[in-house]
Amino acid sequence: MNFASRLIRWQRQHGRHDLPWQGQDAYRVWLSEIMLQQTQVATVIPYYQRFVASFPTVAALAAATEDEVLAHWSGLGYYARGRNLHKAARIVVEKFDGEFPRQLDDILELPGIGRSTAAAICALAYHERRAILDGNVKRVLARWCGIEGWAGNKKVEEQLWQQAESLLPPRDIAIYTQALMDIGATVCTRGKPKCGECPVNADCVALNSNRIAELPTPRPKKSVPERHATFLLLMHNNDILLEKRPGSGIWGGLWCPPQIDDGQGVAEDYLQRNGIEVSERIDLPEFAHTFTHFKLHITPVLLRVARKPLRVQQAGSLWIDVEEALRGAIPTPVRKVLKQLERRLG
Ligand code: ADE
Repeated sequence: MNFASRLIRWQRQHGRHDLPWQGQDAYRVWLSEIMLQQTQVATVIPYYQRFVASFPTVAALAAATEDEVLAHWSGLGYYARGRNLHKAARIVVEKFDGEFPRQLDDILELPGIGRSTAAAICALAYHERRAILDGNVKRVLARWCGIEGWAGNKKVEEQLWQQAESLLPPRDIAIYTQALMDIGATVCTRGKPKCGECPVNADCVALNSNRIAELPTPRPKKSVPERHATFLLLMHNNDILLEKRPGSGIWGGLWCPPQIDDGQGVAEDYLQRNGIEVSERIDLPEFAHTFTHFKLHITPVLLRVARKPLRVQQAGSLWIDVEEALRGAIPTPVRKVLKQLERRLG
């Protein structure tokens, strides 16, 4: 039996069959594929459930505000995924009459959808014969084919795509695609893979040449830069001042307390500039948040004000009850800090 046949047989017996997006329409498959980029199945499931409950159709998603969409994404990270999903939903409504497109080329035009995600949607929702190549599949193929070199390298990636294309089965494409994903997530894991349970272990190049630990070749090591920032937690009774981050940065569109980055002065400068009179200052413990490309050390400072200063009540900033803010579009470190404040307020 060839690679694909063994994977398909394995999937029928040992694969996952009860994921909430399996066998669903293209909208739900698309949503799940976006959420599953860089995020594990167990984390995604409750987010997926809440998301489809609030936005059951592409049209419902397109009709929502970006703020509502990001509130559903709060805690998942990589918020550009949520912003792009929302933009894409509006394009689907305008250009495709609210019907998720059928053609690969049309799907590829949508923001946030690359070659592998478009192919996964076509394979899983439309049963089209398309090759996928996400992070998990790269690992499976690098090992089974014995492909060396970091997959971020264009030449290596091209080799992997060629293998992915040439291994496709003539039919049962949805089962095969899910098999590749499930093998990557549950058997051919990065550390301690369960090679004994693998249906293609007999002819796995990495296993047979004792190179499971070396393949796939990891990305060249770069040190992660470290940065520091102060969160100014301006509080008036139970209300906190939050600002909507502009643009498309990591936290673009999310609500955060005023932040002072490295080299932007100290809290006192900000307070003076904005005419804020502080009645009490409490320095809270520093903590760190790790992004893909850097580590951010955050020092939260609680600043109580006797009255809400007028100058910070501008567009894009608001005073909001801490409890209510916790239900909004906020990133994980802000959630952490608000939870601390919530306990303090009792
Ligand atoms: N990772 C990416 N897509 C997936 C899917 N459809 N099922 C499980 N894990 C996945």
